Amino acid sequence: RLEKIWLSIGIAMLIIFLAIVGISGFAMGMNPPTSDSAHGRIDPTKVDTTPPFDKPGLIQAGDNLYEANMTAYLFSFDPGEMEIPAGSTVMFNITSKDVVHGFSIVGTTVNMMVTPGEINHLSYKFDKPGEYLVLCNEYCGTGHEVMQARIIVK
Ligand code: CUA
Repeated sequence: RLEKIWLSIGIAMLIIFLAIVGISGFAMGMNPPTSDSAHGRIDPTKVDTTPPFDKPGLIQAGDNLYEANMTAYLFSFDPGEMEIPAGSTVMFNITSKDVVHGFSIVGTTVNMMVTPGEINHLSYKFDKPGEYLVLCNEYCGTGHEVMQARIIVK
């Protein structure tokens, strides 16, 4: 009888502990914009056939809200260019098909690692119109310097 009660308490504690770990992990993932958050696994060799990365690009997700599904690979980003209206928030989902790359948007605080096998998330609100340069900021090989993309905010 008493053992059962203690067992229940033990299980309850375990559940609470797991909930706290889960919530803090989630909160960290939501922490913009410099976190290297990674949720979800993806086979780097199957990126091209795994939605949404089989069709990289911009999807409108709401009013002034876009989802950018991107891939990084030696030595490019796909898509290499995207156009969004000023005032839009873009949720970036990006994965690498090969090695570790970087994803930084010049002139903003956006800066994260793009790791193979993981889907990296980050969102950013583009208030100012202009052309934003996306650079790889993790050394990834001979073409590292030319690995870039553009985001045009109108
Ligand atoms: Cu990719 Cu440096």
